[in-house]
Amino acid sequence: MAMRSDFCGQVGLQQLDSTVKLCGWVHARRDHGGVIFIDLRDKKGLVQIVVRPEEKELFALAESLRDECVIQVEGVVHRRPPGTENADRATGQIEIIASDLTVLNRAKTPPFTPDMQQNISEEVRLRYRYIDIRRPAMLKQLQLRAQVLTAIRKFLESREFLEVETPCLTRTTPEGARDYLVPSRHTPGSFYALPQSPQIFKQLLMAGGVDRYYQIVRCFRDEDLRADRQPEFTQLDIEMSFIEENDIMNLMEQMIRELFKSVLNIALPDPFPRMTYQEAMQRFGSDKPDLRNPLELVDIADLVKDVDFKVFSEPAHHKYGRVAVLKLPHGIDLSRKEIDDYTHYITQFGAKGLAYIKVNDIALGKEGLQSPILKFLTDAAIKGILERTKAQTGDILFFGADRATVVSDALGALRLQLGKDRKLVDESAWKPLWVIDFPMFSYDPAHDTWDPMHHPFTAPQNPDPKLLQHAPGSSIARAYDMVLNGSEIGGGSIRIHNVDTQLAVLELLRFSDTQAWDTFGHLLGALQYGCPPHGGLAFGVDRLVMLMTGATSIRDVIAFPKTQSGLCPLTNAPAVVPDEQLQELGILVRKPKEEKK
Ligand code: AMO
Ligand code: AMP
Repeated sequence: MAMRSDFCGQVGLQQLDSTVKLCGWVHARRDHGGVIFIDLRDKKGLVQIVVRPEEKELFALAESLRDECVIQVEGVVHRRPPGTENADRATGQIEIIASDLTVLNRAKTPPFTPDMQQNISEEVRLRYRYIDIRRPAMLKQLQLRAQVLTAIRKFLESREFLEVETPCLTRTTPEGARDYLVPSRHTPGSFYALPQSPQIFKQLLMAGGVDRYYQIVRCFRDEDLRADRQPEFTQLDIEMSFIEENDIMNLMEQMIRELFKSVLNIALPDPFPRMTYQEAMQRFGSDKPDLRNPLELVDIADLVKDVDFKVFSEPAHHKYGRVAVLKLPHGIDLSRKEIDDYTHYITQFGAKGLAYIKVNDIALGKEGLQSPILKFLTDAAIKGILERTKAQTGDILFFGADRATVVSDALGALRLQLGKDRKLVDESAWKPLWVIDFPMFSYDPAHDTWDPMHHPFTAPQNPDPKLLQHAPGSSIARAYDMVLNGSEIGGGSIRIHNVDTQLAVLELLRFSDTQAWDTFGHLLGALQYGCPPHGGLAFGVDRLVMLMTGATSIRDVIAFPKTQSGLCPLTNAPAVVPDEQLQELGILVRKPKEEKK
């Protein structure tokens, strides 16, 4: 005989008067006038068990049950007496009169119960993740995640993508983060790196003639963590041969559309809009614009070049400067304190201030404006700004003036914050887009160096080595990101398949020929032995599922995530290891304390 005949959450009137056998957790127990009611819970939901006082032994056993005990119950399905039905529950029409009860396992008083009436810290939830996962909401998120992966597999398999696994113990695969290193016992002093992505291996698979590859794969990045980042996370990694940008972008957005349709019954636009990186930065101050937010940045450098206010005129003249306005319609009610708070908020993005103009009455011209910087601006500049921003009575204009990157970051962040605070974002909308034409490189003024915007294997639109060498800042990549509601859910590119171009890019990234061959010889070699043109992309599965479930943190859609500081409260990883183990690995640890001495 099986341990159970049905799931708790699925018993209903269809089983009226028949005997069922159920297993689950004691969700709650109530004693009511000599009758004991047990809410029994399994992954499908709750059902009410009734233990009558006539069944003396059962009753005594039921009295001893505590929350989260695991029990097995046999009984007959009865219709609940009129007036005691529970319309909020799928099984609310029936109850089960117990005829047998077995305690499969007792439970200590849990630190919290799955109904989560208490306010539980995330640290405690993670430490007792197995209890946390008993919560229906949590389980639902894991189920949706599995559904997403199944739908994706189905889509790709039907289009002849081959699932191939790539190594976890490998050499560096740079994606802009630090590597996690694993010491080698056989060659003390040498380390494997955990892959930041399977980037190089999937390119090697293209060189190997696989033609279409995918993998649902764990990636490891030692970087500063945020709500939408984990040190290990899952990518849906894809690569194709003999393709161009449009081939892969069209196929991938079709996949995402079908995914949303089949899992959430949501119709995403067809096609997804496309926007250049430059336009995204100009209008939204971000390369992952949330198009649900109606606010936009407006450039005004040309209008303030000649004003007697260095804060504006200097960046207006500077090659890398930017002066822009963010208009908040009906924002005139913002208090001095609120404006100060916003000013403070954007200093974390490097902004040195937040000039503003309140439009008290547009009909009165300059007289109708209120602002600490009015005295610095010419009448022509003011008129030009009001016209270009289409300012109306009641609006407030915020100004950013600095290096272009600072202005975009600061006003971009302010745009998001105002959108949230003023409830301007349509939370029910889905706004995907492709951001294309990324620059190949970003400039690091602190070190006077260039870094890849995507990764070093991305092909430039113009592979002329002279352009790469002399004007790296104006080199545009064959790269594309898929953005959904302000989140970068996927990114990729057409790759370099020509060894000389690859070496030229690596040279710009400060790899001498020898260093390039030492570090990436396996890829460079493959490029020399008949590597087809190829490209691909990778989706962040956790981020995608987070958006699809409406979770606010990536941790809520990962069964066993790490905290913001990269710790696992459940296993207490990372942990100190015994000295013998270190010795075997040839490792001598310099403890931070000793360093201070
Ligand atoms: P990229 O670095 O853009 O590209 O990563 C692809 C996607 O992975 C997700 N992602 C993350 N998710 C959670 N935590 C993190 N720390 C994290 N970092 C990235 C993002 C991102 O869009 N090899 C290339 C892809 C390619 O060119 O084909 C790559 O890894 O959603
Ligand atoms: P100051 O002359 O420094 O007192 O600045 C006058 C106004 O300009 C204040 O409202 C500052 O917040 C603002 N401000 C200062 N620097 C910047 C900047 N880089 N961008 C935008 N506004 C600024």
